[in-house]
Order: sequence, then C-alpha cells, then structure tokens
Amino acid sequence: MEMIEYHSGVGPLKNWLVAESAFHPAFLGKCESIFAQGNGYLGLRAALEETYVGETRGLFVTGTFNKFDENEVTELPNLPDITRMQVWVDGVRFSMAECAVSGYSRTLNLKNGELTRTVVLHTKDGKNVSFTFRRVVSLANEHLIAAAMEVKTDADITLKIVSGIDGQVSNHGSQHLSEGDKRIYDGKILEYPCKTSHSGVGVILHTVLDTKGGRVERRNMNDRRQLLTEIIAQVSAGETFALEKISGVHTTRDLCYAGLSPDEAEKRLQKDSLAAFTAQCGRSYDSIRSESAAAWEKLWAEQDIEVVSAHESDQLGVRFALYHLNIMVKKDDPRVGIGAKAMTGEGYKGHSFWDTETFIFPYFLFAQPDTARTLLSYRFNSLSGARRKAKENGYEGAMYPWESAWIDDGEVAPYYMGVEPITGAPQYCLTGKLELHITADIALAVWQYYQVTGDTAFMENCGYAILLDTARFWDSRLEWKPERARYEITDVIGPDEYKEHVDNNAYTNYLVHLNMQLAAQIAGKIKTKKPELYAALCGKLGDLNALKTSIEEKLDKIYLPQPDENGIIPQFDGYFDLKDLDLRKYKESPIVGLIYRDYNSHMLNDYKVAKQADVVELLYQQEDLFPPEIKRKNYFYYEERTLHDSSLSKAIHSVLACDLGLYDTAYQMFHGALFTDLGQRMASSNDGIHSANMGGIWQDVVMGFGGVRLYHGRLRIAPHLPKAWSKLSYAVYWQGSRLRVTIEGGSATLINEGKPVSGLLIDGCDRSIGSGETIRWDC
Ligand code: IFM
Repeated sequence: MEMIEYHSGVGPLKNWLVAESAFHPAFLGKCESIFAQGNGYLGLRAALEETYVGETRGLFVTGTFNKFDENEVTELPNLPDITRMQVWVDGVRFSMAECAVSGYSRTLNLKNGELTRTVVLHTKDGKNVSFTFRRVVSLANEHLIAAAMEVKTDADITLKIVSGIDGQVSNHGSQHLSEGDKRIYDGKILEYPCKTSHSGVGVILHTVLDTKGGRVERRNMNDRRQLLTEIIAQVSAGETFALEKISGVHTTRDLCYAGLSPDEAEKRLQKDSLAAFTAQCGRSYDSIRSESAAAWEKLWAEQDIEVVSAHESDQLGVRFALYHLNIMVKKDDPRVGIGAKAMTGEGYKGHSFWDTETFIFPYFLFAQPDTARTLLSYRFNSLSGARRKAKENGYEGAMYPWESAWIDDGEVAPYYMGVEPITGAPQYCLTGKLELHITADIALAVWQYYQVTGDTAFMENCGYAILLDTARFWDSRLEWKPERARYEITDVIGPDEYKEHVDNNAYTNYLVHLNMQLAAQIAGKIKTKKPELYAALCGKLGDLNALKTSIEEKLDKIYLPQPDENGIIPQFDGYFDLKDLDLRKYKESPIVGLIYRDYNSHMLNDYKVAKQADVVELLYQQEDLFPPEIKRKNYFYYEERTLHDSSLSKAIHSVLACDLGLYDTAYQMFHGALFTDLGQRMASSNDGIHSANMGGIWQDVVMGFGGVRLYHGRLRIAPHLPKAWSKLSYAVYWQGSRLRVTIEGGSATLINEGKPVSGLLIDGCDRSIGSGETIRWDC
C-alpha cells in the first residue's frame, strides 16, 4: 500500500489534500517535512503530538542564525517545541506504536494550511477513545500557532495531558539557546525566554492551554528547560473533551526590532511579545484557523495554477509545490533568504544556496515580483559578506558565499563533513571554496528581475551594484593563460558536485561571460544616461570606467568551451578523457547517493558520472548559445551519465526536454521532480523538503509546458501541454500587469488583467495587449 496518498475525491477539496493513510514509523521524518506548516516567518515540522523514537521536532524562525561553537558553522536553531502533547488514558501512555489503534489518517489541507489527524484508541479493557488533533500556523498573524485536540469516548476514562514549552530540543545535539527567566502569568500563560549563545538573538515563546468538557484539574510544572501544564480530566462515556493550545513566538530578529541595539531589542521583546500574545490567546482555535484560512484563500485566488490531467497527482503536486513556496520565505524581510530545506528541517542548516536564484526565484519573479525584489534585496544587503569573501580569497568585488545565512555572515559553508566512508578519513566539503557560479547566478537573477519588472528604482538602489561588483570579482578572478592566449577559470566545482577541482566548467565560464558583458553594457549606459548615478556608484564601487575597460579587454578572450566533433560540449577541460562507468545499479536504486558507498569524491573525479544537470542547466538557461541539434545531442549524452542524485536535476531536464520537443521525456522528468518529496521513498525528505525542487516544479509547469520564457527582453509564451493534460491555466506578471494564460483544446488565450503592455512574443510575433484584452492563438 502506498503510504502517501493523493486525494482525488469529489467536492471542493478535490486535489487539495495530501494524506498519510497509515501510521508507519519509517515515514516519521518524511511526513514531518512534507506536512510541515509555516508562514515565511516561522516553520513548524509536523511531528506528532505524542513522542516516537526517530522523531525530529522542529520549530524555526527565519534569520535567527547562531553558531554553536568554533568548529561549527552558523545555523538556524531549532527553537523550543510547542507541539508535544503527551496523553495518558487510564494511566497508559497513548502511543500508536504501542497501543491498539484504528482509523488513522493524517491530512494536510493545502487549501487552508490545516493539519488534521484522526485515530481511535482501543484500550486493553475494551474502551474506544477517538482522537482528533488539528494544528495551524497562522498565515494571518505570523507569530501564532494554534492546536486543538478533541477526545470522544464510549466509556468513562481518566485522561492526563502534559504539554507546554519544551526547551530540551537541539539541532542534533548542538544546543543553541540558553534559558532565560521563565514565568507564568495568571496561572495559565507560560512564558519561556531564551537567547542564542553566540549571535545573542532573544526568543520568547508563550503558550496557553484551555479545555472544555470533563471534570478538570490542572497544574503547572517547571522542569529543566521545560515549562509544562498537566491537565487531568475525568471524561464520561459519550462526552466530548476538547483542549486548545495557543502559542506565540517572537524574537529580537523580528523586523520591528531592526536597527535597535541588542539590549534595546531584548528589553522591548519581553513587553511587546507578552502584550501581543495576551491580545490573541483568548481566541478559539477555530477563530485563528478561520482567519488563517481567509489569508490562504486570498493567496490561492492569486497564485493557484489549474492543471487538468489524466493523473490527478499532477494538480495536487503543483499545489503542494506552491504551498511550500509560499511558506518558505518572509516576503517583506530583505534580511533573510530561503533555506535549501526551507524551515521544514535542519538539513543544510537553513542556509541559502544558488537554489534560491536559479530554481525558486523564477516563480517569485513571474508570480510575485515584490517577493522577488525582497529576495534580491537580501543579496544586496549581503554584499558586505560577499566582498569580505572576495578579499579573503585575494580577489576584488563581490564573491557571493556558496552558503549564506545572516546578511553579514559571509561564507558559512561547512568545511568538515564527518567521515569519508571508503577510507575512514575525515571528509571535507569544498563547495564553499570552489563552487563559484553562484556569484553569476545572483547577477543574472538581478538582470531578469529588471527585464520582467522594469523596476529602475531597485536597479539604481541595489541591482546595478550587484551586477557591477560581481563583474569586478570575475574581472579579478579570470586567469590569463599566455600559452593559449585566453582567460580561463580553473580549479572550480560546477553545478555537478561529483567533480571537484575542474578547469573551465562550461556552465561557470558562460555565466561569467554574460555577467561581465551585462556589467560593461550597464556601466556604459549609466555613464551616458545618468551621470549623477554613475558618479554615486563610482563613489561606492570604485572606478567603473576602469572596470568597463578591463572587462571589454577580456570579454572576447574568455574561454567558452565549444562542442567537439560529435557535437558534445565538454563539461570541463579533459572531460572526454574520463572513464565510462556502468551506472545501471545506481540509476535503478531508490537510494540517493548510493554511488558514494562505492566511490569517494576523489575517485568520482575519474568517471563520466554527474550528480545533476550541469551542461543541461546551461543549455536551458542560455537557449540561443547552440542550435537545437547540438542541445539535443548534449541532452541525451549527459542525461545518460547523470544520476539525478540532487533534487535540482530532474526539473531542469524536464524544461530543457520541453524546449527540445521531447514532451514525453519532459513529462517523465516532471514526475521525477513531483515525486521527489511527495513520492513513496520513505527517507527522501527526512531533513526537510527540497526547496529548489518546489521552484523546479513551477518552472516545469509554467516555463516548460506553459512555455513562458524571458527572451531577449521580451516575454515569450509558447505552450505545449503533455498528452495527459487537457488544460493548464496560470498567471504571470509582465511589466507590472498580470496576464492570465489558459491552454485548452489546442488553443491558448491570454487575458491582460492589468494595464496595457507590450514586449510579448506570441506565436512567433511581437505583440502588445491593452487592458482587459484577450489574445487567442493555436498551439
Ligand atoms: O545547491 C545544491 C547543490 O546544487 C546540490 N547539493 C545540494 C545543494 C542545496 O540544495
């Protein structure tokens, strides 16, 4: 039986529910991640109320990074837990692993963000006690979490519940928080203050438990790193007992404290958070849920994508991606990025990678341009760390960290990675030192943002600085090779992380070339058209004239790998000399990274095996570099040698396959991406969902099958649906106007819901469209 189900029932919730149909401890971690809830400010793993061996509870607040000790890098701390609720029935602890239970189901309703679990306990003396647990992280009030439990019994029972705030959690043993002075107000409101050990971020949690029904006694318990309430209820046969738990989370990193000194922020936090919580905690679960549901309804009205497919999982999977995309980012806070596992787990420590700009950003760019601007502003605000990284490495300009946390942290990629399984020696991770392409990835995202939005103010305040300072980094990083009379980039890691210390990675070199080309054009344009801005930028970024001259001198001499006689672009120098490897065993296995059990990273360097899209990524991003036939050859050549061991791989293969007219292959790859998190592989998302893959799924649907592409400054829309789909409808923003595109029955319509816009490329023709107008074409 499949453990994760896609509900395709009829009615208003059709294709909105992700459900677990039976309790299976092996799926604990995966379900904690995929059923996670959040609102961009905080993320809450879906740990069950009662505890189980193997569980990982998780509550994260964006931006609260802390470094546990000198040997570790900064990470998002796992905050005190408010989800745990231990329950005893007639003195026996309720556990689905140890007691007789039936009727289990756990469902995440993507439409309103509510998580519900039902289960019936059969006691040894024949009593049947049914439980319904519900939980919501408010999308309307980012600090609020509400939980409810309803108990019905067919015989008299004594129920004991212990719940509160548990500060005994850690990040796999690293304890980031020191406990402050706990308090209880009015005998009910539990207050748990704590502070990160290194970054000094103050955190305060409040919680209150209320009950209805039964004869109830309650007391509060104060333990080490815990503040709990014990409730004992005598519940009679046929009676319903209800418990509601409302919790609040605030930190000194909240936007309202930006600019205050740590002391000032801390002083205000205690007062403000208590006042904010007391204003909310008298509310019922239902009222908090309804308010949050209304916020979700508004969001879905704007953001939903309609997919009518022969496979119902397609519609649900796309909504699942949209759900996670919308809870992974605080849309109004330019000091925080998106974690590679969002805030659904400790994986990748809450750090932001190129995943944001290359995989997730396109969704926000086309669907929520204001959020796209926030994300780029985070990179602008992180320029000081990028400049420091460049300096530390002997370069100029801005060298963006491969892994990024708080804005001024700079590089936070861990170097030490534990033990290398083949030799038993310590294992080191070189990505923070060698994976350079992120600097160009960020610059290109800025350029895309400008083309899609025309937001000159952003460019003048932030965007140009990023484009120019990244180009300055590349200008200092290029290496002149007199023997070949060209500039090269040696000793890097490209997108394919199964290859280290490579020279002239094609993806990197082409992106660097584009980054520098754009910077030179921009410097020239600003100088002539906006001399004051130019002077101001020179003041901040150094002599731009000299930078432009230097770039122009180099541009034509940057080595850009070309296809060989078979039409294959070498992924890097010497690629064709590597050995072939029979990859069947790894391709057929459901175990991600199985190859590491046989080969370590040094050994992998000798073989033609890729972890993820590399040349394929380049051919998708820069579609005019090579003719279709070359792209096709490279697609097949590299796909055969790619294990898709990164969740960033299949979605990109799918979009390129669409570009090449390989629609069946594209659809297969799309399903690969769709089921990376939602599929049946029990351990696939234990440490958190794959944020980039959520953006990848959106790219497959809208940029792949939906045919949306930024093409030489124009918005091209050239859809082609897979055979299984009879309808696709999505909206994209172009120059501030929202365009609704619907593809159905062999034709497409585009309705302009905003002001008149031009710059569209539809059915091969340049078009503009007035407000409220429709364009129809066959596709
Ligand atoms: O950024 C990715 C990388 O491309 C592959 N390894 C995981 C990282 C975080 O998702």
